Amino acid sequence: MFDVGVSDIAIYIPPYYLPHEELAKARGIPKEKFHIGLGNYKMAIIPNWEDAITMAANAASHLLEKTGTEPDEIRELVVGTESSVDHSKPIASFVHGLLKIGPRCRSYDIKHACYGGSAGLVSCIDRAYRITDSTYKAIVIMTDICRYDFGSPGEPTQGAGAVALLVRRNPCLFSMDTSLNGIFTKHVFDFWRPIGHDLPIVDGEYSIECYLMALEGAISHFCYNLGIKWEKLLGNLDYIIYHLPFGKMATKAHRHLIEIAYKDLDSESREALYTETYYKKVAPGLLGVKEVGNIYTGSVYMGLVSLLETEGDKVEGKNVGIFSYGSGCGAEFFLCHMKSGIDKIIRGLRFKEQLDGRKKITFEQYTQIYSRSCEEVDYYPEEVQIFKGPLTRFVFTGFKDHKRQYV
Ligand code: CAA
Repeated sequence: MFDVGVSDIAIYIPPYYLPHEELAKARGIPKEKFHIGLGNYKMAIIPNWEDAITMAANAASHLLEKTGTEPDEIRELVVGTESSVDHSKPIASFVHGLLKIGPRCRSYDIKHACYGGSAGLVSCIDRAYRITDSTYKAIVIMTDICRYDFGSPGEPTQGAGAVALLVRRNPCLFSMDTSLNGIFTKHVFDFWRPIGHDLPIVDGEYSIECYLMALEGAISHFCYNLGIKWEKLLGNLDYIIYHLPFGKMATKAHRHLIEIAYKDLDSESREALYTETYYKKVAPGLLGVKEVGNIYTGSVYMGLVSLLETEGDKVEGKNVGIFSYGSGCGAEFFLCHMKSGIDKIIRGLRFKEQLDGRKKITFEQYTQIYSRSCEEVDYYPEEVQIFKGPLTRFVFTGFKDHKRQYV
């Protein structure tokens, strides 16, 4: 038996944000609806000189640097995304080039809405287990720009960001036994983006119903694989990270889980159990969604980064349950067993530094940035130099002969 899993994690978020007070004022909606009703406070805004490729490359470059990994050591590069820029050329090939990874590296994108990155992660962990080459290393990146129509119910849940994970044998951050993973798939139309549409089509209420149905399906499969009854689940998990399209979804998901697992308890005891376990096991993973918004594929991994930032080395040796959901729909619930000695990994995250260093923009600037298509991008080297974040290594400069250009 080999120990396989994730050795380190890096996150990249764009350097601009819009506070929800500003959005609420401009849209004539009480800010409490966004703060309390959705659980979101700020949304990351991606400038025109960044895109899903630069965010992916910036996250992965930070990952290589913080682990002291040479690009040539990477045997597999997988990108989970629903913010693709080309029908044929994968984001992975751009990242492969920007990071100067060698030719003996399998590179490809995976799509299944917000679940795509998790599908890639599980297949790389499986490969690390099976492959005869014990030095196999893979980078799995989740990168997305979450966009909805101006003034639509989804608008306040927008965000952008990328997370990169290093997969290998004898991992330093967490191990995963993928044979336990609980899986759920069903063909539904809850959220989708037909070819030619810049923005998604969303059936909001139904999407929440589908999410909760998938949660129930994936967890019931996980309990079956682990050989436990539903009511034993919480005892096996120190923390739970739910997919977070907005902060309040965590309360809806956790309440649903408690209702199913403890249906024989009276409602008062169930409520007490919900409150106790929510604040202890779920709330420590919410920093990112409150400050950044939805980052689609990276959402649960930003939850993991948030948990590490918030709890620090208290997470060592703990079991973290992760529920990854993608509209359409596909979902997986899996257990990450956290290693000890992870303080250096946590110190190297630089997540709070990125959050605190962002520039606040106005509602007018937000609408101006998001009204432009990427073909109309204006590249201002001065703006990039002044406002780029501490981890911004790559920026998008426009097109030449239909080819995207980066420096
Ligand atoms: N003060 C406090 N709370 C208030 C309030 C006020 N003044 N006004 C309203 N609220 C509360 C409402 O009571 C409601 O709370 P509950 O959910 O607890 O009932 C909450 O604010 C939201 O209000 P609405 O029910 O009126 O819903 P909405 O029209 O604002 O839409 C949404 C909410 C459907 C989630 C919408 O944001 C949306 O379509 N989002 C995009 C789709 C989405 O995120 N789906 C989630 C599941 S799919 C998925 O997870 C994949 C993915 O990443 C997209």
